[in-house]
Amino acid sequence: MVLASALMPAAMQAQTTVALVTQGELKATLALPGDPVRGKAAFDDCEACHRKDASGRTSGAIPRLSGQHASVIIKQVVDIRSGQRLNPPMKPFVEPSELTLQAMADIAIYLQALPIVGKMGQGPGSDLARGKTLYDKDCAGCHGAKGEGRAALFHPMVAAQHYSYLLRELGLIRDGGRGNSNADMRAVVQAYAPADLQAVADHMSRLPPPK
Ligand code: HEC
Ligand code: HEC
Repeated sequence: MVLASALMPAAMQAQTTVALVTQGELKATLALPGDPVRGKAAFDDCEACHRKDASGRTSGAIPRLSGQHASVIIKQVVDIRSGQRLNPPMKPFVEPSELTLQAMADIAIYLQALPIVGKMGQGPGSDLARGKTLYDKDCAGCHGAKGEGRAALFHPMVAAQHYSYLLRELGLIRDGGRGNSNADMRAVVQAYAPADLQAVADHMSRLPPPK
């Protein structure tokens, strides 16, 4: 026992226990404790796009990853590398030859605890009351009243995410362009007019980073 604990890096942290049945690489990675120090080093390969502080880009093409739930990071990376979530620019960087399951587990633990800093893109602010009404009615049940998400169910934190990214993803979710979208969410989003999507994305982008 003494030997085993001596070999285990002090900073190792277990992944979230999830409430859904998982399989394959998702299940295997969720079973691996992650080391944030190793995760920081492994994140070097992601910085060119996601930025060193993982704050993403206000242009909307690249999401902020800092503070996102580790379970969400792992699920999305697994889906991207299997092709289930369509992301051609990133896919080569997360192929099995480039990213081990352990590195994925380490990066997820590192990002989850990374403070949310940097410039976050926001929308025009012209329809915020409508955005809040729609969000509270149709989205908060899964993404949380404060946009905090729900780690055990793989529901992403959507607070303080770039407006243009949120809007872009909502369009992809509506049209099936992400590939891996929750079916119940898709049905809700398909009923939205473009002005509704803008209003709800603007509201989410302005929710402060949850504690
Ligand atoms: C070539 C640029 C590029 C590189 C390098 C890259 N990514 Fe990405 N990543 C993207 C883009 C673009 C998206 C958003 C795609 C979309 O709009 O659906 C994304 C999305 C993600 C998401 C989903 C976030 C969410 O909120 O759903 C995760 C997680 C992620 N990247 C992790 C990583 C990790 C970990 C690495 C390094 C191993 C990495 N990325 C390297 C471009 C990149
Ligand atoms: C039934 C639960 C559920 C509901 C309701 C729901 N979502 Fe989602 N949402 C998810 C899940 C799960 C994901 C992660 C993608 C996936 O794997 O399906 C997600 C992903 C997203 C993303 C992408 C986040 C990212 O980081 O890439 C956005 C944006 C989003 N949801 C917005 C909304 C909005 C706006 C509403 C209300 C109109 C909504 N969702 C309603 C479950 C839900």
